[in-house]
Amino acid sequence: MSEEKRFETAAIRTQAPRSQAREHSVPLFLTSSFTFPDAGEMRDAFAGESDAYIYSRYANPNVQEFIDKVCLLEGMETGFATASGMSAIFAGLMAFLKSGDHVLATRAVFGSTHQILTQLFPRWGIDFSYLDPEDTSGWDAHVRPNTRILLLETPSNPGLVLVDLDAAGKFARSHGLIFMVDNCFASPYLQQPARYGADLVIHSGTKWMDGQGRVLGGILTGRPDLIDAVTFFCRHTGPSISPFNAWILSKSLETLSVRMERHCANALALAQWLETQDAVEKVSYPFLPSHPQHELARRQMKAGGGLVTFTLKGGIDACIRFLNHIRLCSLSSNLGDTRTILTHPATTTHSKLTEEERLAVGISPGLIRVSVGLEHIDDVIADFSASLGQ
Ligand SMILES: Cc1ncc(COP(=O)(O)O)c(C=O)c1O
Repeated sequence: MSEEKRFETAAIRTQAPRSQAREHSVPLFLTSSFTFPDAGEMRDAFAGESDAYIYSRYANPNVQEFIDKVCLLEGMETGFATASGMSAIFAGLMAFLKSGDHVLATRAVFGSTHQILTQLFPRWGIDFSYLDPEDTSGWDAHVRPNTRILLLETPSNPGLVLVDLDAAGKFARSHGLIFMVDNCFASPYLQQPARYGADLVIHSGTKWMDGQGRVLGGILTGRPDLIDAVTFFCRHTGPSISPFNAWILSKSLETLSVRMERHCANALALAQWLETQDAVEKVSYPFLPSHPQHELARRQMKAGGGLVTFTLKGGIDACIRFLNHIRLCSLSSNLGDTRTILTHPATTTHSKLTEEERLAVGISPGLIRVSVGLEHIDDVIADFSASLGQ
């Protein structure tokens, strides 16, 4: 975080330089390329001797504003924005890895990240090992001479399993690993992995950053030497974000803090209500005292986040019946929206995993993930209550 501006102010008052029109709200630079007043300036830009914009696959004012803002919010120096969260994760890995390398990742990672590790890595001769996210004490045994990266996600999607960021940071440092954190679920408002020594912090901007379910986007922020390698990889392989999407995301960040406060308050209220329901077997929410890592959550997160998961006693049948009677909330795969969204991970986002792989990360057939929106929480609870009664 900048010393001059607090989080809320940096999110609002970080802006691309004003044009001659002196606009208040930043305009959209929907242009593929940029012009030069003469051949000399064009040469200088291509030689990297000036920071003039060249081409929007490389850089663009809207994209730069989005990057500058997220850097301030995450306490990182620099970054690169991508077309989606997955392209950010992929770039963060591939910018540094070569055949013969080894990666450590906590077992509870997003389904597509799991597919990169298990299905794509073997094609390029890259190996990986999974670590127990809840117990860092056994991690040393998995380090090899060719281990390059530690990748983790906290809280995890969808199990809401936390990783101790302080312990993970110390572990990565002691073994000279690049420490990458997917901070998507918490958002920089609730948790800043840079405080624990993260070298690269990655986001799916599609989620809380957009906050209204409109655009895809991703971003990596981190140490300048690492971002240089990421920038080289992305400039020449092309996963850059559209200026339009960056404009949307940067605008949305202006309201991130107030939205997250309400998402978290609503999520806590829903989690507390679910815990009182006879039909519910288990509720998971980091700020509920019943969460097995509640103390850790309080230590490294400002609030519990906008996601709640729960399991119904009747298993998959009860789960499908419940979802089919929902009227107000949405059945969708996204999260981080103003609208409350229900997802059944076993048949949707995590359906490509085997049953065994799902159970290993806590995805039982009856698990439902709720991304709690900004509707009045009493209306959300009424919808849940009516559906549970069916
Ligand atoms: C934790 C996490 N990381 C990464 C992603 C991928 O983001 P995107 O859909 O923007 O590619 C998601 C998507 O749900 C996610 O939940």
